Amino acid sequence: SLTRCNAVLSNSSSSTDMTELADIDWDNIGFGLKQTDYMYVMKCDLDGEFSNGELQRFGNIEVSPSAGVLNYGQVMDSIVCKDFSRFLTLKRNLLVLSDFGLFEGMKAYRKQDGKNILLFRPEENATRMRNGAERMCMPAPTIEQFVEAVKATVLANKRWIPPPGKGSLYIRPLLMGTGAVLGLAPAPEYTFLVYVSPVGNYFKEGVAPINLIVENEFHRATPGGTGGVKTIGNYAAVLKAQSIAKAKGYSDVLYLDCVYKRFLEEVSSCNIFIIKDNVISTPEIKGTILPGITRKSIIDVARTQGLQVEERNVTVDELLEADEVFCTGTAVVVSPVGSITYKDKRVSYGEGSFGPVSEKLYTVLTSLQMGLSEDNMNWTVNL
Ligand code: COI
Repeated sequence: SLTRCNAVLSNSSSSTDMTELADIDWDNIGFGLKQTDYMYVMKCDLDGEFSNGELQRFGNIEVSPSAGVLNYGQVMDSIVCKDFSRFLTLKRNLLVLSDFGLFEGMKAYRKQDGKNILLFRPEENATRMRNGAERMCMPAPTIEQFVEAVKATVLANKRWIPPPGKGSLYIRPLLMGTGAVLGLAPAPEYTFLVYVSPVGNYFKEGVAPINLIVENEFHRATPGGTGGVKTIGNYAAVLKAQSIAKAKGYSDVLYLDCVYKRFLEEVSSCNIFIIKDNVISTPEIKGTILPGITRKSIIDVARTQGLQVEERNVTVDELLEADEVFCTGTAVVVSPVGSITYKDKRVSYGEGSFGPVSEKLYTVLTSLQMGLSEDNMNWTVNL
């Protein structure tokens, strides 16, 4: 229960400060899992209500071999159903399940004083998970349950939050169908789980510009599909193209729309922006790209800086003629793009570093996220 989790919290949060950091090499964290102390687990069954969430020691979880997430988690098609109760009826009748796995990505930063911790717009992630759950016919925690679980998990793992300037604590909330699903059995159980890991830069390039290749063969999403949802299947689907690109030395893949093969969609792990003559453009949200919270925040930051931002169809030709190109995401933050390869053409931007406009946006956003500047947007949550 929450009472139980608060008991763990008060032990770990009030006494932990910079002198009680985990004993790891904080200068070389990278972006890989480091096992931390606690994870948060909350379940829901047939009634569709989540309850009795609690912090548990971080470790393996046990699920049935017939768990929805294991059997159908990488299937791209899903039953379109309006609400959870309709889903239950459908499931009993059809014996078909859809894509039972959603996740979120968030970060917590330690402020300069070494003690205070900042979360960034956690209710946005909670809302996105609820929207995704609705699309994937899954029940989801309330916004309040989600945010409380995230706060509890971060505070219980406070010693794993990197010192200021060394990185952040990456937070990974998961929502998955853990009940057995084969046959006319009662409805499955769902598990909401939050775990964390200290992280540094996402790309091996660090803060240096990344090199992207425009994908010609594979597509990430289709109109009417689930490309706009943070469902695990979308990430499995890009691994083939990504691994071919990485073997050729590219950092990641940029996808085009699957109908005209002309309009930018997103990179496997992040959203894309171009800048031309000080006007910022990014593909509009229309169901095939992820509605990134960093994307949305950068648009707002840019507008408060007096810059013009357009959310619209952006062509690959415009990309090749842009002055600056950058990617946004929780994991990648704001990453400058150094080159784009499209068919046989390679175009370079900048001179091995950020362009001036994207650097400004990066600085304004990250200063706010790390508590280095005043949060005029009211986006950060103090722990
Ligand atoms: C994030 O940016 O948080 C994501 O979930 C993307 C993932 C591929 C690391």
